[in-house]
Amino acid sequence: MNEAIFDRVAAGYDSWYETEVGKAADQVERVLAQTMFRPSGTRVMEVGCGTGQYTAWLVQEGYTLTAVDVSGEMMAKAQARIAAVGGQVHWWQADISEILNQLGKFHGIFSMTAFEFVPQSEQVLAKLFDCLVPGGCLLIGVIAGNSPWSDYYQEVARKKPTSVFARAKLYTEENIRDWQVGGRLELGQCLFFPPAVATAAEALALEERREGRAGFIVAKWVKE
Ligand SMILES: C[S@@+](CC[C@H](N)C(=O)[O-])C[C@H]1O[C@@H](n2cnc3c(N)ncnc32)[C@H](O)[C@@H]1O
Repeated sequence: MNEAIFDRVAAGYDSWYETEVGKAADQVERVLAQTMFRPSGTRVMEVGCGTGQYTAWLVQEGYTLTAVDVSGEMMAKAQARIAAVGGQVHWWQADISEILNQLGKFHGIFSMTAFEFVPQSEQVLAKLFDCLVPGGCLLIGVIAGNSPWSDYYQEVARKKPTSVFARAKLYTEENIRDWQVGGRLELGQCLFFPPAVATAAEALALEERREGRAGFIVAKWVKE
C-alpha cells in the first residue's frame, strides 16, 4: 500500500476551507464538478474521499455510495461528518491501485484533488473506466499543471520537502487529453484567480473574467 501521506495533515486539513482564498476556490471547484458529474444511476464510488468535503454532497444526492481513501485519519473525519448529517456510506480504506479488481460496477465514479497523489494515474483511471456500466461517467478534479496554482504548490514543496505537495504530480489539460482512459472526454476549467488573492470577493470577480491559465481542471470520461 502507498504510504498514507495525508494521515499527518488530517487534523488541519479542513482549515483551508475557512480561509478567504480557500472558500472562493472551494466554491468555484464545487460548482464545476457538481455540474459536470452526471452518473447514469445511483451506484457511485468516490475515490480519495478525504475528510468528506464531497462525500456529504454525494450522500445528500441520494447515491448508494462507496467511499475509498488510503488514509485512515482522513476517512475518520469523513465518517464523523456523515454521522453528524446522517446517511449510509460503504467505507473502504484502501489504496485505489490495489483494489481495482475488487470494485464491481458503478454508474459514476467521482474524485476531487486525489489523482495528483495516485501513481500511474492514467493506468488506474483506465481500470476505473472499465468499472463503469454503459452510460456511466468517471470524473476527476485536479490542480492544473503549468498554472499559477501549480507554481504555488511547487514552491510550497520546495520550501517544505515533507509537504504532501512534494508528492503531487500536476497535470496540464494537454497531458489529460493524451491519456488513454476510454469513452468521450469532456474538460472543464476554473480557478482563474491566483493563490495570493486578498479576499474571496476579489477572487470571485477575477473568476468571472476567466483570464489567464486556469488553476483547476475537471475531466470527465463518459462510457457511451
Ligand atoms: C487532497 S485530499 C482531497 C480530499 C477530498 N477529495 C477533498 O476534495 O477535500 C486527497 C485524498 O486522496 C487520498 N488518496 C491519495 N492517494 C490515494 C490512493 N492511492 N488511494 C486512495 N486514496 C488516496 C488521500 O489520502 C487524501 O485523503
